[in-house]
Amino acid sequence: MPRFSDEFLQELRARCDIEQIISGYVQLRRRGKNLVGLCPFHNEKTPSFTVYPENQSYYCFGCGAGGEVINFIRRIENLDYVEAVRFLCDRAGIMMPLDGADDSMALKRRRIYEMNREAARFFHDTLLSPAGEAGLNYYKSRGYSKRTITKFGLGYAPNSWNALRDHLREKGYSYEEQFEANLLQRSVKSDRTSYYDNFRGRVIVPIIDVRGNVVAFGGRVLDDSKPKYINTADTPVYKKSLGVFGLNFAKNSKEKTLILVEGYMDAISLHQAGFDNAIACLGTALTGEMARLLMRYADEVLLCYDADEAGQKATQKAIAIFSSIGAKQRVIRLSGGKDPDEILRKYGPERFRSLIEGASNEIEFKLLRARDGLDLHTDDGRLKYLNLAAEVLADVNNAIAVDIYVSRLSEKLEVDKQAILSRLELIRKRKRSQSRKAAFQTVQKSFSADAGRAAAAGSSLRGRKAQKRVLTLLCGNPDFLPELRSRQAETLFDDPLCRRIYEVLAARIESGGSLDFTALSGELSREEMDLLVGECQKDKALPGSRQELHDCIETLQSEKKKQQSKNTQASALEGDDFRALFRPNDKK
Ligand code: GTP
Ligand code: MN
Repeated sequence: MPRFSDEFLQELRARCDIEQIISGYVQLRRRGKNLVGLCPFHNEKTPSFTVYPENQSYYCFGCGAGGEVINFIRRIENLDYVEAVRFLCDRAGIMMPLDGADDSMALKRRRIYEMNREAARFFHDTLLSPAGEAGLNYYKSRGYSKRTITKFGLGYAPNSWNALRDHLREKGYSYEEQFEANLLQRSVKSDRTSYYDNFRGRVIVPIIDVRGNVVAFGGRVLDDSKPKYINTADTPVYKKSLGVFGLNFAKNSKEKTLILVEGYMDAISLHQAGFDNAIACLGTALTGEMARLLMRYADEVLLCYDADEAGQKATQKAIAIFSSIGAKQRVIRLSGGKDPDEILRKYGPERFRSLIEGASNEIEFKLLRARDGLDLHTDDGRLKYLNLAAEVLADVNNAIAVDIYVSRLSEKLEVDKQAILSRLELIRKRKRSQSRKAAFQTVQKSFSADAGRAAAAGSSLRGRKAQKRVLTLLCGNPDFLPELRSRQAETLFDDPLCRRIYEVLAARIESGGSLDFTALSGELSREEMDLLVGECQKDKALPGSRQELHDCIETLQSEKKKQQSKNTQASALEGDDFRALFRPNDKK
């Protein structure tokens, strides 16, 4: 772990005010001395995310995430420690000291970024050389212009086992490094290991992140062979589940929406047709984390998955995820072609524009889905549709919207409006009682989980409480350390997290370092930081006296004794068992 000087971190802390930085990501409201907002790290409807300008920290009472400004940036931008410091320095216009910056992980990531850029250049140059003729013809057959090819840095990987490998080797990248970037595959035979190109005989699409780094590649075959696509797997610079294509361009679009499509080839076609807010996700399943990331760049997402059944199922899942984070969304229903690329090629951009205009909101989409496959000319079909539609509308909180849809349903199905409304009320009652049950179970579960953790660490809840309190007491009163040392406090912590934090705090105090959270951020893991900041916020009102320190130490000592006597009892028992095992032999 790199160590920046305390002076530098103090400057960073002063220049990167936590309130200002977090406001860029979370809408904060003032509450007394502090600010609150909806936590960006978990889904919630009422704010439990709190920012404390006083000691430049944040803590979420809902999910327990906490820390200071560097740790906030790490989390939200998905960066490692040094990258987060660099990010903040760039923002605040301060120089980052070079020592401390070059720990091995940051160095490795930097090498991979450079290597990927070099590989992208190689693929692109190959495409434009005689060796790339097949690739260029493929792009032409898809209607990609020269401009599109340049803009996206599209390329071609020659059908060779070692073209890229040898090129990168020449540029100074070892096989192992290339393997780590997932540019090479490895084959281990009994007596030797060999490496060969991962992408062969494919057109190549570089995946570029919002900061302009080449983080991954996608490669498509030129014919119908399988697998159709090969994409970079997870590497030190790339997490596939958070991989997104086109955001580097879409984030600068004038549109306030993002068009989310299934394939990056679709996204490219859309950009070429003038829809510069199109993006494609690379992860197999959309996650809440991914959705939150996207919504930082737009007010609304337009879901535009393929027209087939798989695409419609994926749309339903995506709707659930985007709703759970409170994002605005609409669904583009494709007709006349299976995906955006096909529609653009068949009918041109105007058709797609009208599909956007006709995009349905999520209620309309769900109602349309409910109708799929039902024949509304039969009583049976109408009844089934009515039930499914009522299930959809029962979840809608907006009374006016409900009224509109119920009126439409009643007209269309020729059913009394009042009858539909009472059916809705019935379903709502059922759902309310279900959700009460679920909430109760969650509370029960989390309670037994905490008790479970304590039991696993061998400590009682009382012991854990005392351990945490010692930490916050020490934070507020570094002069308590000699006393803790003389009582050998380090032997009293049986929670490994608490013991680690104690040791870091103690070492800092002894070396005369600062104890503010920013100074500690380089030495504590995320989990440790969550715990410490959370406890400090909870205990802030408590004064913290020597007497309390003594009480805590006594509690810990008595807990330890209890534990030890339990252990000796247990081993004594084992001894008895052991003897019993041999008794038959004694008798002989
Ligand atoms: P084209 O046939 O080139 O038009 O493909 P498409 O753009 O219509 O993409 P498709 O709907 O077939 O797939 C959408 C996305 O799923 C692609 O961009 C890939 O990321 C992924 N994908 C599709 N096929 C495969 C595959 O065989 N392997 C892997 N790993 N990913 C695939
Ligand atoms: Mn396609």
